[in-house]
Amino acid sequence: MVVHNDIGNRQDIQTLVDRFYERVQADTLLAPLFSHLDWSKHLPVMYNFWSSLMLGDQSYKGNPFQKHINLPIDEEHFTRWLKLFTEVVDENFKGEKADEVKSRARDIAQLFQHKINLSKQVP
Ligand code: HEM
Repeated sequence: MVVHNDIGNRQDIQTLVDRFYERVQADTLLAPLFSHLDWSKHLPVMYNFWSSLMLGDQSYKGNPFQKHINLPIDEEHFTRWLKLFTEVVDENFKGEKADEVKSRARDIAQLFQHKINLSKQVP
């Protein structure tokens, strides 16, 4: 039986982020949306983002929603994104922080979707 630890430090965040984006790059629906990215730049930004949320280290500075507003994404993409994220958390971690990171991801995904829908409405 594999025993999973909870998310406790920046190394854990890096493991989560690395494994999540490996999964994203292997996903036929999501991968094309990331094809232009320089991963050596994107991954450290994501380590900072999740470390700031989960460990409170304030390493992320930015406006995440701005980067998504013009992407051709809808509910299907968000559902897949969340499915992969939840799977990767569950395969690697277990505990309060693991639960928290999944609920944070869900909340932010919902907020992004809501804002994207609003921005598409004709005034
Ligand atoms: C369908 C779902 C999603 C897709 C396809 C997607 C795609 C992307 C892409 C392509 C970028 C890079 C933008 C660029 O630098 O040009 C990006 C950045 C980012 N994404 Fe997402 N994303 C999704 C959902 C989410 C969610 C749910 C979160 C948070 C929980 C998130 C957090 C971020 C953050 C923090 C950045 C970095 C922003 C910065 O550079 O400061 N994304 N995303």
